Amino acid sequence: MKITVIGAGYVGLVSAVCFAKLGHQVVCVEKDKNKLKKLQQKQVPIFEPDLEKLLNETITSKKISFTDDITKAIEDSLAVFLAVGTPQDKDGNADLSFVFAAVEEIAKNAKNDLVIVTKSTVPVGTGEKISAIVAKANQNLNFSIVSNPEFLREGFAIVDFMKPDRIVVGVADEKAQKIMGEIYQPLQNQGAKILFCDVKTAELIKYAANSFLATKICFINEMADLCEKIGGDIKKLSLGIGLDSRIGEKFLNPGPGFGGSCFPKDISALLYTARENDVELSVVNSVIKSNDKRKILMVEKIRSALGEELAGKKIALLGLAFKANTDDIRYSPAIAIAKELVKNGVLVKASDEEAIENSKFELKEFGNIEFFADFYEAIKGSDLIVIATEWQKYRDIDLQLVSKNTACRKIVDLRNILNEEKVKNLGFEYFSIGKLD
Ligand code: UDX
Repeated sequence: MKITVIGAGYVGLVSAVCFAKLGHQVVCVEKDKNKLKKLQQKQVPIFEPDLEKLLNETITSKKISFTDDITKAIEDSLAVFLAVGTPQDKDGNADLSFVFAAVEEIAKNAKNDLVIVTKSTVPVGTGEKISAIVAKANQNLNFSIVSNPEFLREGFAIVDFMKPDRIVVGVADEKAQKIMGEIYQPLQNQGAKILFCDVKTAELIKYAANSFLATKICFINEMADLCEKIGGDIKKLSLGIGLDSRIGEKFLNPGPGFGGSCFPKDISALLYTARENDVELSVVNSVIKSNDKRKILMVEKIRSALGEELAGKKIALLGLAFKANTDDIRYSPAIAIAKELVKNGVLVKASDEEAIENSKFELKEFGNIEFFADFYEAIKGSDLIVIATEWQKYRDIDLQLVSKNTACRKIVDLRNILNEEKVKNLGFEYFSIGKLD
């Protein structure tokens, strides 16, 4: 089937190459000339495992092409997926100007019947607004609006697309349901479950899923705080509750708080929708508060591990990305901690496997930060090591080498990735999350 994807950002590009891999004929529209040129030359502008390989393969097999011309792209397409950005605006709601502009252009230029699908995360009720825009822009167009939210995790986006827990499709009529069913047939043949519902419910499922996962993280982080005070062990606690199949083991790793481009933005947008509709979401509200407080708590933890004032100290910060396997630093707790440490007079010696360039830009106003590609260099001469992102290289840290090169003997592991016994046996003081030191 011929499909158009509007926007070659993170969600758009991953979806486009995956649809192409599933055998569809895909045209991806990208208005940014530089990005477009790169993609046509088989280069991926973001870091995502396997994406470049898949892009290469699908361009070579002529299953995907890139253009900046919407009119040409949608010619003969049965479905057009909207995957343009929906940044957070000043009052916490999602800014839909890119979505609406794309929809208007599509409507004005469409020559055949179209299913218009939102892939971008959009607030409840956006489907209705899009429908009104299309109807106004082109009274003769036969169209249907569909909501098909994505649930892609950065670093695992290809796997999440190809082996989804579920595919959510909000439709308003049978024709659109049939077309969406055909698009996802190859995944259904491999056992993927598809859930059809109305458009509004599909829009809400995305926000509810992310808010629920964020709630789970805040809950386990607060349990970790309690464990530290009363002498419990958070790893055993996570397992003890997670083995109950009603709770589940995933998303029960305590840490420095959640970040990324989705959770903070989506929770804000959900709260905005609730406020607009006079519904109190007190649980979701407290999730934001709990997560914001977390970064300050982490800095307190670092201060207490040092046993001295922060001012004048050198701290090696291992990890800047909001989680491992990405170069994304949006709402990264590591970045928030770095800023707070610098404000407290620390010289931060930062390292990351992929996010140094993005961090340099974000932290350009903060003089007291040095960046190191090799994290062992960041550790040299530091008073304390803080692990803020769970990169595999940090899990495999050679502490004997660290001992040889520096006098630093304190590690604060905000991701609980090191083996406490091994670390202590090598002569280090170890401070983890959710266990008395
Ligand atoms: C998330 C959702 O998982 C995905 O379905 C959605 O479509 C986009 O948002 P992503 O932002 O890539 O994906 O990251 P995810 O792996 O979900 O982690 C989010 C944050 O939670 C990270 O900061 C991570 O470190 C933190 N986290 C996750 C924890 O602190 N503990 C956990 O147990 C799991």
